[in-house]
Amino acid sequence: MKRARRRIADMLPRIDVVIEVLDARLPMSSANPILRELNRHKPCIKVLNKDDLADPEVTQEWVGYFEKEDGIRALPLEAKESLSVACLPKLCRNLAPRRGKPGRPLRTMVVGIPNVGKSTLINSLAGKRVARVGNRPALTTCPQQIDLHNHILLSDTPGLLWPRLDNRNGAYRLAVSGAIGDKAVDDADLALFAAGFMAVRYPEQVMRRYKFETMPGTAAEIIEEIGRRRGCLISGGHIDVQRTAGLFLRELRSGKLGRVSFERPEDMFVEENLEI
Ligand code: G4P
Repeated sequence: MKRARRRIADMLPRIDVVIEVLDARLPMSSANPILRELNRHKPCIKVLNKDDLADPEVTQEWVGYFEKEDGIRALPLEAKESLSVACLPKLCRNLAPRRGKPGRPLRTMVVGIPNVGKSTLINSLAGKRVARVGNRPALTTCPQQIDLHNHILLSDTPGLLWPRLDNRNGAYRLAVSGAIGDKAVDDADLALFAAGFMAVRYPEQVMRRYKFETMPGTAAEIIEEIGRRRGCLISGGHIDVQRTAGLFLRELRSGKLGRVSFERPEDMFVEENLEI
C-alpha cells in the first residue's frame, strides 16, 4: 500500500482526470482511502461499476451524493458492455476541456481496489483485450499506458490498492460482494450476515427466489429453509449449512436474487457517527 501511495502521488501531477472504479453495490467500502487523501484537487469520475447488479434507485442516490462535491462526476455503468462505457471518454473531455487534442493528449488514470472491474473497463474502452480479467481478486496485470487513439491516454492503477477493512460491517459487505478472497471469510458466517441484511432490505426478493410463503424469522432460519428447499442435506436429514451458505452467496453475487445494493448514502452517515 505504501508503494502504491508513492507511485500514485508521483503520477498524479501528470494526470488530467482520475477514473476511480467503485462497485455500485457498495461505493463506500469499495473505495480506497488513499485515493481520497491524494486526489483532493484532481477532476475525478467515480465509475459505479457492476450497475447491472445494483439497485437502480440506490445507485441514483449515490450519483447525487458524489456529485455534491466540486470536480466529481459519478457514472453508473456496466464495464462488460462496450455500449455502456462509450460515454466515459466524453465525460473525461468535459472535465478537462483543454486536453484531448493533437499534441495535448488527455491523460487519465484508472484506479480502484481489486475485483471492482478495472481490467474489464480498460478492455472495453480499448476495444480489445489488453488487461487480464481475473476470477479471483488481485489477479489484474495491465500494461502501463494504453492509447485509446482519440487523444486519450489511459494508465492503469500503479500498484495494488487494498480496501479498508477496519470497519467490520464494511469488510463483511465487501466479502458478500465477492471482493475479498473466498478463503478469507467463513461462508456460513458470511451467509448469516447476508441473509440478515436481505431480510431487512430486500425480503421480497428472497421470498421470490426461494418461493417462501412467509419470511423465516431469523437469518439462521432463512439459511436452513433455503437448504431444505434446495436439498442441501447431510445424513440424518440435517441441513448442510456450508453448502447452503455457498449456494446462497453465489446466487446473491451473480444477481439471481435481483439487483441489490449493500450500502446507501444515509447508512454511511449513520455508520460513521456510530464509529465515532
Ligand atoms: P479488477 O481488474 O478490478 O481486479 O477486476 P476485473 O476486471 O478482473 O473484474 C472482476 C470481476 O468482475 C470479473 O468477474 C468481471 O467479469 C466482473 N465484472 C466486471 N465488470 C462487471 C460488470 O459491469 N458487471 C458484472 N456483473 N460483472 C463485472 P470474474 O467472474 O472474476 O471473471 P470472469 O469469469 O467474468 O472472467
